[in-house]
Amino acid sequence: MTTASRPIPLNPGSALMRAYRAVFWNRIRLMQRTASVHPDIVRSTFGPRELISINRPEYVHEVLVEQEDKFTKGREFAKYTRPVLGHGLLLSEGDFHQRQRKLVAPQFVHRRIREYTKVMTECTEQMMASWHDGMELDISREMSRVTLSITGKTLFGSDVGDEADDVKSRLTFLMRYVEQQLRLPFHAPYAWPTPKNLRVRKAVAGLDEIIFRMIDERRNSNTDSGDLLSMLLSARDENGGSGMTDQQIRDEAMTIFLAGHETTANAMTWMWYLLAKHPEVFQKLTDEVAILKGRAPTMDDLPTLPYAMQVFKEAMRLYPPAYIIVRTVKEDVLIDGYKLNAGAALIISPYLLHRNHDYFPNPEAFDPDRFTPERERAIPRHGYLPFGAGPRICIGNQFALTEGHLMTAAIAQRFRFELLDQKPIEMEPLITLRPKGGIRVRVRSV
Ligand code: HEM
Repeated sequence: MTTASRPIPLNPGSALMRAYRAVFWNRIRLMQRTASVHPDIVRSTFGPRELISINRPEYVHEVLVEQEDKFTKGREFAKYTRPVLGHGLLLSEGDFHQRQRKLVAPQFVHRRIREYTKVMTECTEQMMASWHDGMELDISREMSRVTLSITGKTLFGSDVGDEADDVKSRLTFLMRYVEQQLRLPFHAPYAWPTPKNLRVRKAVAGLDEIIFRMIDERRNSNTDSGDLLSMLLSARDENGGSGMTDQQIRDEAMTIFLAGHETTANAMTWMWYLLAKHPEVFQKLTDEVAILKGRAPTMDDLPTLPYAMQVFKEAMRLYPPAYIIVRTVKEDVLIDGYKLNAGAALIISPYLLHRNHDYFPNPEAFDPDRFTPERERAIPRHGYLPFGAGPRICIGNQFALTEGHLMTAAIAQRFRFELLDQKPIEMEPLITLRPKGGIRVRVRSV
């Protein structure tokens, strides 16, 4: 990388036009438009706010890995998600983040994930037991229910599947609120009891109720089941109360409760959508999973089912649930000679990186063979980024990959889905990339 400073190209158009687009355009359209002029790095200004988008793998490496200490999590993003996520792992910073991450990490090691697979397949079997040939359903709702059940049972020892609709509608409301706040230049502080803020507090209170109920039940049962929740509770006790406060336990639990299911549910939903549109890919998948002869897959089966994993990865390429990764520049930083000013907001978009035709030819095509071992090795580092990178890489990535792999194999040998609506599904880019209005399908036995 060079050290001489050079200006970051400015997003074209008048300041007024840029402001208009920032407020009214869907975020994906906005990013695509900007990247069509300056694909690697571009700067936009909205009044005093400066926003830099980078989408070149080498630059991504600088931000997320090499010079990661010069960035914080997105300041605006943190401000509006704080009422929900508090100071949990997604939003905490510095030494405190490192300590908390180390504490939680043992719940995500290979041995633990192997233990979770039993629950993953049981929950999937239970969901499929309620399906029959010809029935109609919203596949996004089903995926939210099953992933929430799995997160609840594996990490919190609690069955919360029946609360999935409630969790989803509160989360949708909160994500739309955050999106709106990020767009509008002026808003009332969260402490003011405006009608909007009161609705936000109500939505958070409903989620708190679930988290605090799980915490209370575990405390009252006086058992240590070795799961995430027990670990959060005992970490505090061992330190004689000087470790985690009740609020911190709540923040860590809430963060993993939400992050642990919403993203995986979206990835799976988009995958079934793509499979419904590409019967030839689905056929190849069913041919592969036939070796299971109808029984539920286990962790040991996964290496014999490579295509199922390729399908899951390719779905996350086209529809990365975390379609943007945001940061704030903490101190002035040079990347390839470009000076990024302290205070600027920074966006990295897996959605755009995953559509770079230099390494994903014909990028809009759904082609799981892009992820055969040889072809996957040819993708540049950080060219494929569904889980982020560096010290803030998704802590649940192996959990999610295993869950997605198992569920894909388990479901594909029994069912396929026909889209009820032939119109293309619209994306709703919130904090995660959702299909707008869900995806209605008819279930067909294979
Ligand atoms: C397909 C599923 C998933 C996707 C696409 C995904 C994506 C991501 C991404 C991109 C980040 C990094 C964000 C950043 O750098 O700003 C992240 C962080 C995180 N994810 Fe995931 N995630 C998934 C599943 C999970 C699961 C299953 C869990 C937990 C059970 C989880 C928990 C977390 C947590 C706690 C963080 C914050 C880590 C930290 O900052 O130290 N995620 N995720």
